[in-house]
Amino acid sequence: MSRSAHPAGPRHADVLTEGHYSAPPADLNRLDPKVWSRTVERSGDGELTVGGLEVSRLAEEFGTPAYFLDEADFRSRCRAWAGAFGPDADVFYAGKAFLSRAVVRWLHEEGLNLDVCSGTELATALDAGMPAERIAFHGNNKSEAEIRRAVEAGVGRIVLDSFQEIVRVAHIARELGTVQKAFIRVTVGVEAHTHEFIATAHEDQKFGIALADGQAAEAVRRALKLDGLELIGIHSHIGSQIFDMAGFEVSARRVVQLLAEVRDEHGVELPEIDLGGGLGIAYTSDDDPAEPHEIAKALTEIVTRECDAAGLRVPRISVEPGRAIVGPTAFTLYEVGTIKPLEGLRTYVSVDGGMSDNIRTALYDAEYSVSLVSRTSAAEPMLVRVVGKHCESGDIVVRDAFLPADLAPGDLIAVPATGAYCRSMASNYNHALRPPVVAVRDGSARVIVRRETEEDLLRLDVG
Ligand code: LLP
Repeated sequence: MSRSAHPAGPRHADVLTEGHYSAPPADLNRLDPKVWSRTVERSGDGELTVGGLEVSRLAEEFGTPAYFLDEADFRSRCRAWAGAFGPDADVFYAGKAFLSRAVVRWLHEEGLNLDVCSGTELATALDAGMPAERIAFHGNNKSEAEIRRAVEAGVGRIVLDSFQEIVRVAHIARELGTVQKAFIRVTVGVEAHTHEFIATAHEDQKFGIALADGQAAEAVRRALKLDGLELIGIHSHIGSQIFDMAGFEVSARRVVQLLAEVRDEHGVELPEIDLGGGLGIAYTSDDDPAEPHEIAKALTEIVTRECDAAGLRVPRISVEPGRAIVGPTAFTLYEVGTIKPLEGLRTYVSVDGGMSDNIRTALYDAEYSVSLVSRTSAAEPMLVRVVGKHCESGDIVVRDAFLPADLAPGDLIAVPATGAYCRSMASNYNHALRPPVVAVRDGSARVIVRRETEEDLLRLDVG
C-alpha cells in the first residue's frame, strides 16, 4: 500500500490510487462484526445501536461528528489481552492510540499496564491514578524535565532510545538518589506493515539503537556501568497494523541473539524482553486479524524457541498493543450534508467532519468502511467517496465505499474502527472543533472527552 505524501492542488485527485474497492457487499445493511464494536447491532426499526442506545438519540444528545466508544468492548479486549499472555507476561496499552482519564481508569481496573511517550501522557496517567510502577516511558527525545518527572514519579521502566539518553537518565536518577529500571530500545532491521515485512541488516529511522555494527551491544555495555540505571531488558517495536508474525520472529531472534551476547560478555542474563505493539485490526471486511490468544501463543513460542537455541532462560515478555485494544471499540458518527453525483465517476458524500477528526486516510492512504446507520435501505448500492468539509481536496474520510443510492442529507453515517489514532491525531485545521469522545455502556452514555468549543480555541489566541 502506498504511503506517499500527496501533492496538494487541483490535480490532487489524479494521483490518488484507484481500485481499492471490491464489488458492493451483498447486503448493504449488514454491520460486519469484524469491523464494528461488539455491542453494535441494528434495532428492530433498522437503526444502529451501541450499548443498547440508538444513534439518532446519541446524535441528538451529543451532536455530530462524535466518536462513540464501546466501554464493554474496550474492557473485554483488555481482559482478552491480559488473559492471553497470563501472569508471567505484561501487557502495556500504548496510550498514543487514544488516552483519556477514563481509559486510564479502565486499564487500571482491568489489570493492564500503560505505555506513555510524553510528559503530558504521563501526567494524564498519573492524574487518573495509574500506579507509576505500571507505566513505561517511551520517546526518542524525552526532555530532561520529562525524564525527571518520570523518575520522580517512580515509573516502572524508562525505555532508553539513544546513547545520550542512557547518560541523561542515569544522571537524573543519581541526582534524585534512586536507581531507574530501564530497557534499551534497539532497531532490529525489521520493518513490518500489514501483510509484508522487510528484514535488513540496517534500519534508517529515528528510533532506538541499531543492533547492527555492535551499537546496541555498546549501549548495553555503557548502561550496565552506570549507577543510576538498572538495565532489565531489551525493547523492539517493528511497525504498525501487522498481520504477519514472521516480522516478530526475525525481531525476537535478533533480540535474543543480543541477550546471548550480553550473557557471554558480562555474565548477566537480562530478565525481560519487550516486543512492542503493532498488531493489526480489521478496518474493512477484507482484514483478518488473529485473536490475542493466538498472538500470545505465537510470540511466546518464538521467544521460547530462540532462547532454547541460545541456552538462555526465557525472559519475561512484554507487548504494547494500542490499536488492537482501542481501534475496534469506537466509530465516528457523521451527518450527511451534501451529495454530489459525478457522472461516470462516483458520488461525493460530504460529512460534517473530515481530515480534522480522521487524518489517517489522507496521511497513510488508510482504508475504512462506512454504513448508513440511522435507517436501513433497500436501494441499490452506489459507489461513494466520503469527504469532509475542509478546504482541501485530499480531505477524504473513506476513499471508496458503497452506500445506498437513496442516501439523503440529514442521514447519519458511521465509520467503524476509528478508536485508534483518530481522536489522538485530531487537529483544529480550519479551526475545526475537535469532536467529543462518548463512552457508551449498558444503556447509558457519557462524555469522557468533551467537544471543543469556540471559547476553547479563542482562549489560546491571545490577540
Ligand atoms: N509501542 C511502541 C514503541 C510504539 O511506537 C507504538 C506505536 C506502539 C507500541 C503501538 O502500536 P499499535 O499497537 O497501536 O500499532 N499513527 C499511526 C500509528 C503510529 C504508531 C506509532 N507507534 C497510525 O495511525 O497508523
